[in-house]
Amino acid sequence: MKKLFVANWKSNKTVEQCLEWLAEFEKRSSFLDLLNKEVVVCPSFIALESCYRFICDKKLPISLGVQDVSSFAGGAYTGEVNVEQAKEFATYAIIGHSERRIHLGETDELISRKTALAKRQDLTVIFCVQDENTLIPGSVDIIAYEPIFAIGTGNPDTPENVARVLARLSARTSKKRFLYGGSVVATNVLSFLTIDQVSGLLVGGASLKVDSFTALLTA
Ligand code: PGA
Repeated sequence: MKKLFVANWKSNKTVEQCLEWLAEFEKRSSFLDLLNKEVVVCPSFIALESCYRFICDKKLPISLGVQDVSSFAGGAYTGEVNVEQAKEFATYAIIGHSERRIHLGETDELISRKTALAKRQDLTVIFCVQDENTLIPGSVDIIAYEPIFAIGTGNPDTPENVARVLARLSARTSKKRFLYGGSVVATNVLSFLTIDQVSGLLVGGASLKVDSFTALLTA
């Protein structure tokens, strides 16, 4: 199975900056060996459609994901983006990121409602867990282990501990696809990718520039 490289752009980039990134990626894509890799880019909702059109137009080998979905199916929920709207452009949905738990007060219950709705729209759910004990709904497709201490700190978890946590998660859930996320950069990417259970990476900071992201793909 292809290794997944998921770029989580968080609340960064205007639409124009997203398109600049994609245009730069396009220039390099012919030099990248993507045979065994799948690239997923998760921009802000506001840039989703423009990115989608650009990717289709240029036939770029990139899938799109959303960073969140509404916990409501749709209707009178001001400001929310529902799963049906997400599905127009995205294949993947990141759900349960610790930044949403911490800064937006998302609870396990809310996150599991989001997961159920996303699955109803056939979105592939990348479910973020902060440790081996995080509650995980049965229907998730991919589990991303992202310890809070490692996110955006330059202080990644050790490959040994990642392997240990993923083994525990795998025993608990019988899931097969796991990502690691938290301060992944070109110099440590191989130490995570070579862990047996790791099917890919969820990348924040190092995904914002094409240079540092393609460095992960070519490491
Ligand atoms: P980071 O973020 O790569 O900047 O540590 C990872 C994430 O939050 O998904």
